[in-house]
Amino acid sequence: MNILNVVGTRPNLMKIAPLIEEMRKHSDVCPTLLHTGQHYDDKMSQVFFDELGIPAPDIYLGIGSGSHAEQTARVMLAFEQVLVEKHPDVVVVVGDVNSTMACSITAAKLWIPVAHVEAGLRSFDRRIPEEINRVVTDALSDLLFTTSRDANENLLREGVAAERIFFVGNVMIDTLLRHRERAMALNTPARFGLQVGEYALLTLHRPSNVDVREVFSGILDALVAIQQHLPILFPVHPRTRERIAEFGFSPRLADAPNLRLTEPLGYLEFLDLMMHAKMVLTDSGGIQEETTILGIPCLTIRESTERPITITEGTNTLVGTSPGRIIAEAQRILSGDSKVGRTPELWDGRAAERIVAIIRRVVGGGEQLGAGLR
Ligand code: UD1
Repeated sequence: MNILNVVGTRPNLMKIAPLIEEMRKHSDVCPTLLHTGQHYDDKMSQVFFDELGIPAPDIYLGIGSGSHAEQTARVMLAFEQVLVEKHPDVVVVVGDVNSTMACSITAAKLWIPVAHVEAGLRSFDRRIPEEINRVVTDALSDLLFTTSRDANENLLREGVAAERIFFVGNVMIDTLLRHRERAMALNTPARFGLQVGEYALLTLHRPSNVDVREVFSGILDALVAIQQHLPILFPVHPRTRERIAEFGFSPRLADAPNLRLTEPLGYLEFLDLMMHAKMVLTDSGGIQEETTILGIPCLTIRESTERPITITEGTNTLVGTSPGRIIAEAQRILSGDSKVGRTPELWDGRAAERIVAIIRRVVGGGEQLGAGLR
């Protein structure tokens, strides 16, 4: 069985790593890895291949940056050629980035089955580009692998046939559990001059937060206030770095000596920093899940989340973007009032094993899934 696995961006890499590793254990499976090149900086891509032991991509499309339409269209044009040439038995896409959606559309139109890993997540806010990617990808996928039961419910509500939906757990957590020990041995906080449990870790890159000057400025006000009580380490995404320069925020950052900016970090360093932080402030999707497993309080600087289980069962709190609320919630944690979460069902490090078993059974066995699987 030829399985074509797609990655495009940094968060896709943590998700594909355990899947490829599992696929390689089975002699009836021949996995190929395709990188669209949506993320291309070494720090956003190559370092994760090295650390997570992902084999070099068999196919690299070199798409790069652009508007949503440009990026999506370029991936589709290049991916169509690959599919026509290789005609895999199934295409595996992960997550919710532009590459995920572009490849699922292209494969579906060529009648090649699509398996979507991390299906069914919904923020119910279509101003978020990833929400559109999620809805389109799920509508076109033949096999939908979910991380939580609420995702199954979302898909059923949208009319996806129950027999195509598989609740399997979380591949991102497979990766975290596999690398946790190695990360812990790195002593990363000390290398940044930070004390264990006495700093906050921050990430910020959502267009709705960093592309709108007033919103970014308000978040910065909150960060400037918080860093007076707790040092904040801030690995800066390239998009965010560009906005800081464009909006002229550098002097404000220079006036906040405990808010320390660094380049984007590798997976292991970041994991080490996360697990030893007092709190994490973020607008990322995956970090809400990782902090839940690590038991570290997470303040999510967004108005909505597609991962409600991290709030109901985990350590996550949605704080929006108003400075007052962000500061108040950070103060609450500093005063010792932190959420204590529990591990969500099936986030046990075996999601990839379940997914590959299902793909082998359904695709390899030629099992019919309604009208969907062709
Ligand atoms: C993308 C995903 C987002 C994911 C994020 C993780 C979409 C719609 N968004 O957002 O869901 O959370 O990746 O990081 O697919 N850039 C570089 N070097 C790179 C990549 C990007 O400099 O290697 C800069 C470019 O200026 C680019 C900008 O960052 O225009 C944004 O990159 P893009 O891939 O469009 O989206 P992300 O914001 O990274």
